[in-house]
Amino acid sequence: MSAPRGEFSSRFGFLMAASGSAVGLGNIWGFPTNTASNGGAAFLFTYIVLAFAIAYPALMAELIIGRHAKANAVTALRGLARGPLTRALGGMVGYAGMITVSLILSFYAIVSGWMLAMTMASLANLLQFDAAADWLATGSVVRDAIFTLGFMLMTLWVVTAGVSNGIEKWASRLMPSLFIILVCLIIYVFTLDGAMEGLRMYLVPDFSRMLEPGLVVSAMGQAFFSLSLGVGTMLIYGSYINRRENLPALGRMVTLLDISVAVTAGLLILPAMTVALNLGVPIYDEQGGLIAGPGLIISVLPALFDQIGLAGILVSLAFFILMTIASLTSSISMLEVPLAYVVENYNTSRRRVGTWLTLGITAISLLIVFNFDTLFDLVVSLTTEYSQPLLGFFFAIFAGWIWHRNGILQEIRQGSENVEHTMFWRIWPVYVKFVVPVAILAIYLQTLLG
Ligand code: PHE
Repeated sequence: MSAPRGEFSSRFGFLMAASGSAVGLGNIWGFPTNTASNGGAAFLFTYIVLAFAIAYPALMAELIIGRHAKANAVTALRGLARGPLTRALGGMVGYAGMITVSLILSFYAIVSGWMLAMTMASLANLLQFDAAADWLATGSVVRDAIFTLGFMLMTLWVVTAGVSNGIEKWASRLMPSLFIILVCLIIYVFTLDGAMEGLRMYLVPDFSRMLEPGLVVSAMGQAFFSLSLGVGTMLIYGSYINRRENLPALGRMVTLLDISVAVTAGLLILPAMTVALNLGVPIYDEQGGLIAGPGLIISVLPALFDQIGLAGILVSLAFFILMTIASLTSSISMLEVPLAYVVENYNTSRRRVGTWLTLGITAISLLIVFNFDTLFDLVVSLTTEYSQPLLGFFFAIFAGWIWHRNGILQEIRQGSENVEHTMFWRIWPVYVKFVVPVAILAIYLQTLLG
């Protein structure tokens, strides 16, 4: 019917693509600021536990279903169904994932557009094009519209080149650069006065807050968003993995990489905030909370960079390149979800589908840009707090209850020879059946009621 399916050409390529999807704005600013406003190391600890205990098993469900079906989420979930009812449910979950991921991309592209604009602003500063730098660094509807579109076109360009020639190739180039830039920036920040305060804020736990329900909910949401779960992204990446690869090991690596980058990014962002405070840049909002979210990245940090002269311009350039790379390797994994579905079901090309999807998603982004105050937070919370965990719940139900146990064990066995002797083999099937759905449901209800 359609062209042969794409496949990652190497293990390294898959690891870079999947960790590229996972590592994004969620790690480099969501995680550090969440940590800072939720009791420092108490949040860090809860997050690490939840990421391994709930998010890793959920990630495995998506990877295993994807590689088994070698298809998009709708086809994959329908294929596991046992009757008309579960078939309909599978279709609904798959479609809901595509809608959710398209909406996530529509707000993600706006924020990524800011990162792109700030990269250009730093360049303009370096070249002493002061007027251009000012315009680029000042938020306006026109600037945001232009850079959102620019970022979406970059995403489209990578994705249309294909799985191994586009996604894998670019992730393999960009992710190592991301690691290097991150480490260099951390080393630099620690040479500045005041960094130690931030480190203390990050690593000294406020244990009294550790079991606060609000903290657990945020840590869980953070883990789901960060590992790109629930929306079919990891399922589709799983579907491009060769049957000779050891899935539990790959999933573990992706989880480890994602957590390490988040934890490492905390060593950059929190010390940078206290350095800024030390230089007189305000880092608390009117309510006395830390300035988190957009305000941090586009006001606090730039104000800090301004204070440190020429080095500041270079650091700012490196920082916003880092953010743009993190965004791009995530956005390509989002666009791939609806794109793969259409390409696999209708006889048409990646370029054509990609172009239409890009137009549609950019249109939604522009709607948000023009009604920022009413729409932005709404779309973010609907998709990441409600839709993602709920869909993650259904993926666990499909892996644990609907798919026949023998089928799933057989898929795990492919490519992992001695898997029968591992903890994963013994624990995961039971775990994904009971613990994961119950935990998600409990936390989901909390968000609803809270
Ligand atoms: N994991 C990405 C981040 O941390 C966001 C993402 C969500 C990517 C859903 C793909 C799908 O920024």
